[in-house]
Amino acid sequence: MPSARRSPFIPHTARLKESIDLTPDVKLFRMELEDEAVRKEFQYKPGQFAFVSAFGVGESPFGLASVAYQNDAVEVAVRRVGTVTAALHELEPGAIVGVRGPFGNYFPLEEYKGKNICIIGGGIGMAPLRPVIRTILDNRSNYGKLTVVIGSRSPADLVFASEYEGWGSQPDTRVELTVDRGDANWKGRVALIPAVVKEIHLSPENSVAIICGPPIMIRFVLVELKALGFAPHQIVTTLEAKMKCGLGKCARCNVGDKYVCQDGPVFSMDQIAGFLEQF
Ligand code: FES
Repeated sequence: MPSARRSPFIPHTARLKESIDLTPDVKLFRMELEDEAVRKEFQYKPGQFAFVSAFGVGESPFGLASVAYQNDAVEVAVRRVGTVTAALHELEPGAIVGVRGPFGNYFPLEEYKGKNICIIGGGIGMAPLRPVIRTILDNRSNYGKLTVVIGSRSPADLVFASEYEGWGSQPDTRVELTVDRGDANWKGRVALIPAVVKEIHLSPENSVAIICGPPIMIRFVLVELKALGFAPHQIVTTLEAKMKCGLGKCARCNVGDKYVCQDGPVFSMDQIAGFLEQF
């Protein structure tokens, strides 16, 4: 029996190919699943997530930051915030980690063909949005205008910063950057993301807004999008929740009557508007 059909609670082993510093506390992990059959079967779409484990310490869920068809490496952005992520940060290339997944639903990019796309990401919330951007840019003629609004606490905290210029140089694509606090070298905008959404007058016409970031950011971005005329079904977000199983079994991740791990992590605002205060 192929190993991919084992219990979904047992992680696959993967070799850490690279661990790249994205910010002072975020590393991009590039991992290669060891078993070739598993590698072929580990197909996923933008928005899905996987658990990554540091053996002997524990596992945590991460939004997948890579595009499955682009290469064999599975990528996640790991922010050092607790025991598991601290242990992962200590690993050197060549180390073996566990990978369980992929889990959850995904951004319905097929449905968005022909629409203008506004992507709004705060901090490490850009990680699950990166494959959305890459997929749209790979299929540029299938979509309308692409606007990417990216914010972080400081210039040093902008994740995937080396990729912004390439994104912004594509046809009908603009990238708007902002930080909460500048530094001596920062010549760009200093403002909160919701203020930028208001300032650039995103149009709701034939548009979809995709948001990911801290809950407080999402709430205030929603206010601005509503004021601009976006209807709840035109706004999609991916939620983070405390997760243990990823399989709808442990009841750790519910939002109202939904499980983030199975019904999400991607939700439209009309699905979860009443539950946002839980975050
Ligand atoms: S993580 Fe266990 S039910 Fe969602």
